[in-house]
Amino acid sequence: EIVKERNGIDQVLLKNSRGAIVRVSLYGGQVRSWKNERGEELLFTSSKAVFKPPKAVRGGIPICFPQFGNCGTLEQHGFARNKLWVIEENPPALPPTDSVGKTFVDLLLKPSEDDMKIWPHSFEFRLRVCLGAEGNLTLIPRIRNMNCKPFSFSFAFHTYFSISDINEVRVEGLETLDYLDNLHQRERFTEQETSLTFESEVDRVYVSSANMVAILDHEKKRTFMIRKEGLPDVVVWNPWGRKSKAIADFGDDEYKKMLCLDGACVETPITLKPNEEWKGRLELSLINSSLGP
Ligand code: BG6
Repeated sequence: EIVKERNGIDQVLLKNSRGAIVRVSLYGGQVRSWKNERGEELLFTSSKAVFKPPKAVRGGIPICFPQFGNCGTLEQHGFARNKLWVIEENPPALPPTDSVGKTFVDLLLKPSEDDMKIWPHSFEFRLRVCLGAEGNLTLIPRIRNMNCKPFSFSFAFHTYFSISDINEVRVEGLETLDYLDNLHQRERFTEQETSLTFESEVDRVYVSSANMVAILDHEKKRTFMIRKEGLPDVVVWNPWGRKSKAIADFGDDEYKKMLCLDGACVETPITLKPNEEWKGRLELSLINSSLGP
Protein backbone atom coordinates (compact mmCIF):
# COMPACT_ATOMS: atom_id res chain seq x y z
CA GLU A 1 0.00 0.00 0.00
CA ILE A 2 1.26 3.47 -0.87
CA VAL A 3 0.24 6.60 0.97
CA LYS A 4 1.28 10.22 0.63
CA GLU A 5 3.33 11.69 3.41
CA ARG A 6 2.62 15.18 4.67
CA ASN A 7 5.50 16.39 2.47
CA GLY A 8 3.76 14.95 -0.59
CA ILE A 9 6.30 12.15 -0.95
CA ASP A 10 5.19 8.54 -1.26
CA GLN A 11 5.44 6.22 1.69
CA VAL A 12 5.10 2.44 1.45
CA LEU A 13 3.14 0.64 4.16
CA LEU A 14 4.02 -2.95 4.96
CA LYS A 15 1.56 -4.84 7.15
CA ASN A 16 1.62 -8.39 8.44
CA SER A 17 -1.32 -10.57 9.40
CA ARG A 18 -0.87 -9.84 13.11
CA GLY A 19 -1.15 -6.10 12.66
CA ALA A 20 2.51 -5.05 12.77
CA ILE A 21 3.22 -2.13 10.41
CA VAL A 22 6.36 -0.71 8.83
CA ARG A 23 6.40 2.58 6.94
CA VAL A 24 9.14 3.33 4.44
CA SER A 25 9.56 6.70 2.79
CA LEU A 26 10.89 7.09 -0.72
CA TYR A 27 12.61 10.15 0.67
CA GLY A 28 15.95 8.74 1.74
CA GLY A 29 14.76 5.14 1.45
CA GLN A 30 14.20 5.69 5.13
CA VAL A 31 12.20 3.41 7.41
CA ARG A 32 10.12 5.93 9.27
CA SER A 33 8.07 3.76 11.56
CA TRP A 34 8.02 0.21 12.88
CA LYS A 35 5.03 -0.75 15.02
CA ASN A 36 4.52 -4.09 16.68
CA GLU A 37 1.23 -5.99 16.72
CA ARG A 38 0.17 -4.05 19.83
CA GLY A 39 0.53 -0.80 17.93
CA GLU A 40 3.58 0.35 19.91
CA GLU A 41 6.06 2.44 17.97
CA LEU A 42 9.53 0.93 18.23
CA LEU A 43 11.52 3.64 16.46
CA PHE A 44 12.04 7.15 17.71
CA THR A 45 11.13 10.23 15.68
CA SER A 46 11.73 13.69 17.05
CA SER A 47 8.71 15.89 17.72
CA LYS A 48 10.76 18.61 16.02
CA ALA A 49 11.53 16.54 12.93
CA VAL A 50 11.27 18.42 9.64
CA PHE A 51 9.57 16.34 6.98
CA LYS A 52 10.43 18.53 4.03
CA PRO A 53 13.61 18.13 1.96
CA PRO A 54 16.49 18.94 1.78
CA LYS A 55 17.54 17.51 5.17
CA ALA A 56 17.04 13.96 6.39
CA VAL A 57 14.19 13.34 8.81
CA ARG A 58 15.35 13.05 12.44
CA GLY A 59 14.24 9.57 13.39
CA GLY A 60 13.52 6.11 12.03
CA ILE A 61 16.38 4.60 10.07
CA PRO A 62 18.23 7.12 7.88
CA ILE A 63 20.83 5.55 5.61
CA CYS A 64 24.38 6.88 5.76
CA PHE A 65 26.01 6.36 2.36
CA PRO A 66 28.49 6.71 0.68
CA GLN A 67 30.12 8.30 3.72
CA PHE A 68 29.49 7.82 7.39
CA GLY A 69 30.11 10.88 9.57
CA ASN A 70 32.13 13.84 8.40
CA CYS A 71 35.55 12.30 7.77
CA GLY A 72 35.51 12.75 4.03
CA THR A 73 34.70 15.22 1.31
CA LEU A 74 30.93 14.75 1.35
CA GLU A 75 28.23 16.25 3.54
CA GLN A 76 27.82 14.54 6.94
CA HIS A 77 26.59 10.95 6.49
CA GLY A 78 26.56 11.23 2.68
CA PHE A 79 23.70 12.04 0.35
CA ALA A 80 21.59 8.84 0.15
CA ARG A 81 19.43 9.87 3.09
CA ASN A 82 18.14 12.97 1.40
CA LYS A 83 17.55 11.68 -2.11
CA LEU A 84 14.36 10.42 -3.68
CA TRP A 85 14.47 6.66 -4.16
CA VAL A 86 12.16 4.72 -6.50
CA ILE A 87 10.28 1.47 -6.06
CA GLU A 88 11.82 -1.31 -8.10
CA GLU A 89 9.25 -3.85 -9.30
CA ASN A 90 11.61 -6.60 -10.44
CA PRO A 91 14.96 -6.39 -8.71
CA PRO A 92 17.66 -9.03 -9.22
CA ALA A 93 16.70 -12.10 -7.24
CA LEU A 94 17.40 -12.58 -3.55
CA PRO A 95 17.26 -15.96 -1.79
CA PRO A 96 13.67 -17.15 -1.14
CA THR A 97 14.30 -16.83 2.61
CA ASP A 98 14.35 -13.08 2.08
CA SER A 99 10.80 -13.01 0.75
CA VAL A 100 8.75 -16.10 1.67
CA GLY A 101 6.33 -15.35 4.50
CA LYS A 102 7.24 -11.68 4.50
CA THR A 103 5.77 -8.54 3.12
CA PHE A 104 8.43 -6.41 1.52
CA VAL A 105 9.27 -3.59 -0.83
CA ASP A 106 12.31 -3.07 -3.04
CA LEU A 107 13.76 0.40 -3.45
CA LEU A 108 16.46 1.67 -5.76
CA LEU A 109 18.77 4.67 -5.75
CA LYS A 110 20.99 5.67 -8.66
CA PRO A 111 23.16 8.78 -8.61
CA SER A 112 21.91 11.87 -10.41
CA GLU A 113 24.21 14.03 -12.53
CA ASP A 114 24.60 16.38 -9.58
CA ASP A 115 25.52 13.49 -7.28
CA MET A 116 28.15 12.41 -9.81
CA LYS A 117 29.71 15.88 -9.60
CA ILE A 118 30.35 15.55 -5.89
CA TRP A 119 31.01 11.79 -5.87
CA PRO A 120 32.06 10.67 -9.37
CA HIS A 121 31.05 7.04 -9.07
CA SER A 122 28.13 5.33 -10.70
CA PHE A 123 26.28 2.84 -8.53
CA GLU A 124 23.00 1.04 -8.03
CA PHE A 125 21.87 0.87 -4.44
CA ARG A 126 19.05 -1.61 -3.85
CA LEU A 127 17.28 -1.86 -0.55
CA ARG A 128 14.77 -4.54 0.37
CA VAL A 129 12.71 -3.72 3.46
CA CYS A 130 10.87 -6.78 4.84
CA LEU A 131 8.34 -7.20 7.59
CA GLY A 132 8.27 -10.81 8.80
CA ALA A 133 5.28 -12.79 10.03
CA GLU A 134 6.60 -12.39 13.59
CA GLY A 135 7.04 -8.64 13.22
CA ASN A 136 10.79 -8.66 12.58
CA LEU A 137 12.10 -5.84 10.44
CA THR A 138 14.83 -6.81 7.97
CA LEU A 139 16.81 -4.47 5.75
CA ILE A 140 18.90 -5.89 2.92
CA PRO A 141 21.14 -3.37 1.17
CA ARG A 142 22.93 -4.24 -2.06
CA ILE A 143 25.34 -1.80 -3.65
CA ARG A 144 26.80 -2.42 -7.09
CA ASN A 145 29.63 -0.58 -8.78
CA MET A 146 28.38 0.48 -12.23
CA ASN A 147 31.61 2.26 -13.07
CA CYS A 148 34.76 1.17 -14.86
CA LYS A 149 36.95 2.00 -11.85
CA PRO A 150 36.80 0.87 -8.20
CA PHE A 151 35.23 2.98 -5.45
CA SER A 152 35.08 2.81 -1.66
CA PHE A 153 32.33 3.76 0.74
CA SER A 154 31.34 3.61 4.37
CA PHE A 155 27.82 2.84 5.47
CA ALA A 156 25.41 2.82 8.40
CA PHE A 157 21.76 2.18 9.16
CA HIS A 158 21.44 5.05 11.62
CA THR A 159 18.72 3.38 13.68
CA TYR A 160 16.88 5.54 16.22
CA PHE A 161 15.43 3.07 18.75
CA SER A 162 12.61 4.25 20.96
CA ILE A 163 13.42 3.54 24.61
CA SER A 164 11.79 4.20 27.98
CA ASP A 165 14.66 6.15 29.52
CA ILE A 166 18.31 6.35 28.54
CA ASN A 167 19.26 5.86 32.20
CA GLU A 168 17.40 2.53 32.30
CA VAL A 169 18.73 0.74 29.22
CA ARG A 170 21.85 -1.25 28.63
CA VAL A 171 23.53 -2.62 25.55
CA GLU A 172 25.04 -6.07 25.45
CA GLY A 173 27.33 -7.50 22.82
CA LEU A 174 29.96 -4.76 22.72
CA GLU A 175 32.02 -5.81 25.75
CA THR A 176 35.82 -6.06 25.25
CA LEU A 177 35.59 -4.44 21.80
CA ASP A 178 37.71 -1.57 20.60
CA TYR A 179 35.90 1.64 19.75
CA LEU A 180 36.73 4.90 18.03
CA ASP A 181 35.53 7.77 20.16
CA ASN A 182 34.18 10.71 18.18
CA LEU A 183 34.26 12.79 21.37
CA HIS A 184 38.06 12.27 21.50
CA GLN A 185 39.17 12.90 17.91
CA ARG A 186 38.31 9.31 16.99
CA GLU A 187 40.93 7.97 19.37
CA ARG A 188 40.82 4.20 19.91
CA PHE A 189 39.80 2.78 23.30
CA THR A 190 38.82 -0.67 24.56
CA GLU A 191 35.45 -1.23 26.21
CA GLN A 192 35.96 -2.27 29.83
CA GLU A 193 32.35 -2.67 30.92
CA THR A 194 30.47 -5.95 30.67
CA SER A 195 27.42 -4.10 29.41
CA LEU A 196 27.07 -0.54 28.27
CA THR A 197 25.00 1.90 30.33
CA PHE A 198 24.56 5.61 29.72
CA GLU A 199 25.17 8.66 31.86
CA SER A 200 26.54 11.21 29.39
CA GLU A 201 26.97 11.89 25.68
CA VAL A 202 28.12 8.90 23.62
CA ASP A 203 29.38 9.00 20.05
CA ARG A 204 31.38 5.87 19.25
CA VAL A 205 32.10 3.35 16.55
CA TYR A 206 32.63 -0.12 18.02
CA VAL A 207 34.71 -2.06 15.55
CA SER A 208 34.36 -5.65 14.43
CA SER A 209 31.52 -6.66 16.70
CA ALA A 210 29.80 -10.04 16.78
CA ASN A 211 26.72 -10.40 14.61
CA MET A 212 24.31 -9.89 17.46
CA VAL A 213 23.84 -6.93 19.78
CA ALA A 214 20.98 -6.32 22.20
CA ILE A 215 19.37 -3.27 23.82
CA LEU A 216 17.76 -4.25 27.11
CA ASP A 217 15.00 -1.91 28.20
CA HIS A 218 14.21 -2.89 31.75
CA GLU A 219 11.37 -0.43 32.27
CA LYS A 220 9.47 -1.37 29.11
CA LYS A 221 10.29 -5.02 29.76
CA ARG A 222 11.53 -5.52 26.26
CA THR A 223 14.74 -6.25 24.44
CA PHE A 224 15.68 -5.24 20.92
CA MET A 225 17.79 -7.85 19.18
CA ILE A 226 19.98 -6.54 16.39
CA ARG A 227 21.38 -9.17 14.03
CA LYS A 228 23.66 -8.10 11.24
CA GLU A 229 25.71 -9.46 8.37
CA GLY A 230 28.29 -7.61 6.31
CA LEU A 231 28.10 -4.75 8.82
CA PRO A 232 31.05 -5.35 11.14
CA ASP A 233 30.84 -2.14 13.18
CA VAL A 234 28.27 -0.71 15.57
CA VAL A 235 27.75 3.01 16.00
CA VAL A 236 26.35 4.09 19.36
CA TRP A 237 25.08 7.64 19.63
CA ASN A 238 23.18 9.67 22.18
CA PRO A 239 23.68 13.45 22.17
CA TRP A 240 22.67 13.97 25.83
CA GLY A 241 21.42 17.34 27.09
CA ARG A 242 23.93 19.93 26.02
CA LYS A 243 24.36 18.67 22.44
CA SER A 244 20.59 18.22 22.06
CA LYS A 245 20.07 21.93 22.50
CA ALA A 246 22.33 22.58 19.53
CA ILE A 247 20.35 20.29 17.20
CA ALA A 248 17.52 22.31 15.67
CA ASP A 249 15.27 19.38 14.77
CA PHE A 250 15.59 17.64 18.14
CA GLY A 251 13.86 18.46 21.44
CA ASP A 252 15.99 19.39 24.44
CA ASP A 253 14.89 16.38 26.50
CA GLU A 254 14.30 13.89 23.74
CA TYR A 255 17.70 12.30 24.22
CA LYS A 256 16.15 10.41 27.14
CA LYS A 257 13.81 8.57 24.83
CA MET A 258 16.17 7.46 22.07
CA LEU A 259 19.32 5.53 21.41
CA CYS A 260 20.98 5.29 18.03
CA LEU A 261 22.58 1.93 17.50
CA ASP A 262 23.64 1.34 13.93
CA GLY A 263 24.77 -1.71 12.05
CA ALA A 264 27.60 -0.09 10.11
CA CYS A 265 30.75 -0.43 8.14
CA VAL A 266 32.95 2.50 9.11
CA GLU A 267 36.45 1.62 10.21
CA THR A 268 37.41 -0.23 7.04
CA PRO A 269 35.49 1.12 4.06
CA ILE A 270 34.17 -1.33 1.49
CA THR A 271 35.86 -1.24 -1.90
CA LEU A 272 34.01 -2.50 -4.94
CA LYS A 273 35.63 -3.34 -8.25
CA PRO A 274 33.73 -2.57 -11.47
CA ASN A 275 30.47 -4.53 -11.52
CA GLU A 276 31.11 -5.97 -8.07
CA GLU A 277 28.24 -5.97 -5.53
CA TRP A 278 28.24 -5.71 -1.76
CA LYS A 279 25.38 -7.08 0.25
CA GLY A 280 24.54 -6.55 3.89
CA ARG A 281 21.70 -7.42 6.22
CA LEU A 282 20.19 -5.97 9.36
CA GLU A 283 17.42 -7.73 11.23
CA LEU A 284 15.66 -6.08 14.14
CA SER A 285 13.39 -8.01 16.44
CA LEU A 286 11.77 -7.52 19.78
CA ILE A 287 11.52 -9.81 22.76
CA ASN A 288 8.75 -8.87 25.16
CA SER A 289 9.48 -10.15 28.60
CA SER A 290 6.13 -8.96 29.98
CA LEU A 291 4.01 -11.17 27.72
CA GLY A 292 5.01 -14.44 29.31
CA PRO A 293 5.09 -17.79 27.53
C1 BG6 B 1 26.23 10.20 14.71
C2 BG6 B 1 27.50 10.95 14.60
O1 BG6 B 1 26.34 8.93 14.18
O2 BG6 B 1 25.22 10.92 14.05
C3 BG6 B 1 27.30 12.22 15.36
O3 BG6 B 1 28.58 10.19 15.10
C4 BG6 B 1 26.16 13.01 14.75
O4 BG6 B 1 28.48 12.95 15.38
C5 BG6 B 1 24.92 12.12 14.69
O5 BG6 B 1 25.90 14.14 15.50
C6 BG6 B 1 23.72 12.77 14.01
O6 BG6 B 1 24.04 13.21 12.74
P1 BG6 B 1 23.07 14.10 11.90
O7 BG6 B 1 23.84 14.54 10.69
O8 BG6 B 1 21.91 13.23 11.54
O9 BG6 B 1 22.67 15.24 12.79
